[in-house]
Amino acid sequence: MDTAEIRRRFIAHFEHDTAVGAHTPVPSASLLLDDPNLLFVNAGMVPFKPFFLGQETPPYDRATSVQKCVRTPDIEDVGKTTRHGTFFEMCGNFSFGDYFKEGAIRLAWELVTKPLADGGWGLDEGRLYPSVYADDAEALALWRKVTGLPEERILRLGKRENYWSMGVPGPGGPCSEILYDRGPGHGPDFDPTRLGPDMPVELEDRLLEIWNLVFMQDELSAVRSKEDFDVLGSLPKKNIDTGMGLERVAFLLQGKENMYEIDVMFPVIEKAEQLTGKRYGADRDDDVRFRVVADHVRSSMMLIGDGVTPGNEARGYVLRRLLRRAVRSMRLLGYDDPALPELLPISRDKMGETYTSLHTDWDRIARVAFAEEEAFRKTLQAGTQIFDLAAQKVRSSGGTTLAGDEAFSLHDTYGFPIDLTLEMAAEAGLTVDEPGFRALMAEQRERAKADARAKKGQHADTTVYRGILDAHGPTEWLAYETLETESRPLALLRAGRPATSLAQGEVGELVLDRTPFYAESGGQAADAGHIDFEGGRLEVLDVQRPVRGLVVHQVRVVDGELGPDGLLHARVDPEWRTGARQAHSGTHVVHAALREVLGPSALQSGSYNRPGYLRLDFGWTTGLKPEQLHDLEQVSNQALRADLPVGWQYMTLAEAREWGAIALFGETYDDSRVRVVEIGGPWSRELCGGTHVDHASQIGTIVVTGESSVGSGNRRIEALTGVEGFAYLARERDVVNQLTGLLKTQPDDLVARVGDLVERLRSAEKEIERARVRELLAAAGTLAESAEDVDGVAVVAHHAPGAGGGDVRTLAMDVRGRLAPGRPGVVVVIGDADGKVSVVAAVNDAARERGLSANELVRAVGPLVGGKGGGKDDVAQGGGTDPSRIAEALALVTTTVAASG
Ligand code: ALA
Repeated sequence: MDTAEIRRRFIAHFEHDTAVGAHTPVPSASLLLDDPNLLFVNAGMVPFKPFFLGQETPPYDRATSVQKCVRTPDIEDVGKTTRHGTFFEMCGNFSFGDYFKEGAIRLAWELVTKPLADGGWGLDEGRLYPSVYADDAEALALWRKVTGLPEERILRLGKRENYWSMGVPGPGGPCSEILYDRGPGHGPDFDPTRLGPDMPVELEDRLLEIWNLVFMQDELSAVRSKEDFDVLGSLPKKNIDTGMGLERVAFLLQGKENMYEIDVMFPVIEKAEQLTGKRYGADRDDDVRFRVVADHVRSSMMLIGDGVTPGNEARGYVLRRLLRRAVRSMRLLGYDDPALPELLPISRDKMGETYTSLHTDWDRIARVAFAEEEAFRKTLQAGTQIFDLAAQKVRSSGGTTLAGDEAFSLHDTYGFPIDLTLEMAAEAGLTVDEPGFRALMAEQRERAKADARAKKGQHADTTVYRGILDAHGPTEWLAYETLETESRPLALLRAGRPATSLAQGEVGELVLDRTPFYAESGGQAADAGHIDFEGGRLEVLDVQRPVRGLVVHQVRVVDGELGPDGLLHARVDPEWRTGARQAHSGTHVVHAALREVLGPSALQSGSYNRPGYLRLDFGWTTGLKPEQLHDLEQVSNQALRADLPVGWQYMTLAEAREWGAIALFGETYDDSRVRVVEIGGPWSRELCGGTHVDHASQIGTIVVTGESSVGSGNRRIEALTGVEGFAYLARERDVVNQLTGLLKTQPDDLVARVGDLVERLRSAEKEIERARVRELLAAAGTLAESAEDVDGVAVVAHHAPGAGGGDVRTLAMDVRGRLAPGRPGVVVVIGDADGKVSVVAAVNDAARERGLSANELVRAVGPLVGGKGGGKDDVAQGGGTDPSRIAEALALVTTTVAASG
């Protein structure tokens, strides 16, 4: 049964269930949901979290989904076990305060045991082992009731296996798993009554967990480990969250050994076999590499599909690591050419059957992936040279170990993976100080963590905000309706802790019952403004939404002392807001214009706007040409001149998609109600919660000021809007005016005039250079004639003030050419320019026969001028830094020649 059919049957089983009621099928959310605790969606329940926590009312009581997931903590295990995938799909059914344990157990057991012919998995009951959390007698009884299995077939496991949470504060609860015994070939025999509380590692491949049913009932306030957490209380309602591993069921039903061999993954391995000429199944190490390739190619494609671009932090870093590990594994399999252009399309064709945007978005996905592979290939090249040098150094100093800091610098500066360093060291007959390397890595990780903590600041721990939200409910948010309101304070914080007052000059956080302030989101900066209270005034420094629904103002007390209650008057600076609306609408205009100029595969990957300024990052690998930038500005301003209407409305995500609205990556969209902002109808439709102008001409103007690279595969456009845009143009006009005044010309002739000047300057410089050389050489004749005779050798030792290395050499060679041939001649010229001393010695053939050497002369006099150098016997050159002893150095020439006689 192929995975598509397994997926279809899963949804059908829940969609049509009549016992507990039909489940609403919900499409997979993006891998990137806006959750401060998660890099990627890592379980089917993540998109439903606000429902489980009671923060939002679900539009259905029951749901089912097949959710894209990425987990990377086990990346090192990929390919080594049968079931570790960085990308996987989790099939789940969810109850929001509806059915509980019995319903969940019954539904899962039915699907797993129902014969294939009736739409189930048809798994042999004799091989199935349900598990329960050790203390959960209720679940144990229910399993017995529903399945009729004897008690000894039901495993009792501890918290590690059978208590589920997200690893962070949030929902959790005891769970039950369904495990499948794959038989003696996959692990030792076991006695089910003696298992627990932990599952022995050697049984993990034999007793394969295929489904986890979480009886979600607790809200956790702290999670220190899988077994050590604090339960804050019960969730508002009892819920069900289950997760069945699609890949695991697929490899069981397809009779394969592991997840990498299922229908949607194996074709990549087959392609890799073809490219490398190696056979899968022939060598254990190679097999792991083949599986890593199959897994990482798929995961990175899915991540790029959802908008991740390779980078050095967070999500971007995970993607980079996956791509590089895939490329590297191909290299270890013996394939040195670009591999991704061969492999990625195979994975696309398989996964694209379900995720059709892989096809429609292919140009962008391919561009990002292939560019990263190219960059990595260059890294490998550069790093290999550095490695060779380091290895040489070790050997020449008689050692056999590459130091930890060398390995670390290869990794840190050149992006060289440690396993590559290890392998190359082994080839070179060296070892690597791995512990030293790991210690440095650990230090760096600590630094990075500390940085991240510092950046997140007070918002890293959202507990206090959750408490405020629970106590008072969501903030009434009036940013779309008004710029000022009367409000009441609900909570006051100082340094992240509850406070009862803020004194003059203090900075703290203030939560109001209602606010007109826009909280930073969707790339739009927070509003600025003031909040007045009886006897005082606050300046609003920042506005954030640390938890959904709660708006928090960071304020400084300008006047008076702020108390815990009373009436406040919140007022957004109207000029600020006008600028913010212009800049945000401007961002949409630039985005639409960009797609018009470059094509629809140019897609925004990030943006930021504040009054007067916007920037837009987008996936693109090459720099934009001046004509393209020019077109971009033209198209943008045409939209302003056409005064396109700007509007917004709420609709479902499905409707928005149908409308062609662009959903931006990394944003959380509530499925039931998204806001679509459109400019000029279909010309620009984006999901967006920002504040906008009413029609495009209100943006004033858009002036594109820059285009640059922001990491591999990403470019950035910067532009100014409104008054800032006009001010920028006015400044440029002033510059033009000054130049036309200075050059006594008209603006239209300015470029030609400056071009002409530059040209004339260049030829004047060339003329000066020629004159200088003429003058220098004019001295050559006189110098040659005034050669001193030292024991039959014609010696010229000359100081040329102001002459640099090249001139000194020209002069020395010229003088040597003018000395009588046949007679031994030695010329040494020392020049000094800008504190730098140049020494050139030129010796003719006859002098060389007498044993004189230019090289030796330079070596003899060089140290006097604070330098060194050398060369051949006929000509040698050196440099120094001490002009004060030039005369002495020249005198030494005569002495040296005399001494040689
Ligand atoms: N949320 C549960 C899991 O991820 C089902 O295992």
